[in-house]
Amino acid sequence: MSLFEWSDKFSVEITSIDEQHKKLVNFINNLDDAMIVGKGKHVIGGILDGLVHYTIEHFDYEEQLFDTHGYPDADAHKKEHKDLVAQVARFKQSFKSGKEELTKDLMDFLKDWLMNHIMDIDKKYSPFLKDKNIS
Ligand code: FEO
Repeated sequence: MSLFEWSDKFSVEITSIDEQHKKLVNFINNLDDAMIVGKGKHVIGGILDGLVHYTIEHFDYEEQLFDTHGYPDADAHKKEHKDLVAQVARFKQSFKSGKEELTKDLMDFLKDWLMNHIMDIDKKYSPFLKDKNIS
């Protein structure tokens, strides 16, 4: 069973964004699988690079929609994004330098940040962006 099972309760009801969120979920599940089977540092480091890169790309996508359509909570949401990227990038550096291991606790942390961000923060823009016909 995957660490993070996608279900409709995570949907923000905007297809393009749901697809991006599913891709982030896949990164986290791939990372968890790699940890469980004991993949080497090189493989895990590569998945972490992908996760950081794709997270930034996804956050940029949302932020462009906020700017284009004048989303009123954009500043607070962007701050959340900035903090999350900093946290994951910090962990990636720490892992690559050998200071930190990929552990079950860390995987739970990654899963929770994505889950909580989608459920508590992203879902707030759903009615606003749907009203602008974003799909
Ligand atoms: Fe889907 Fe605000 O990240």
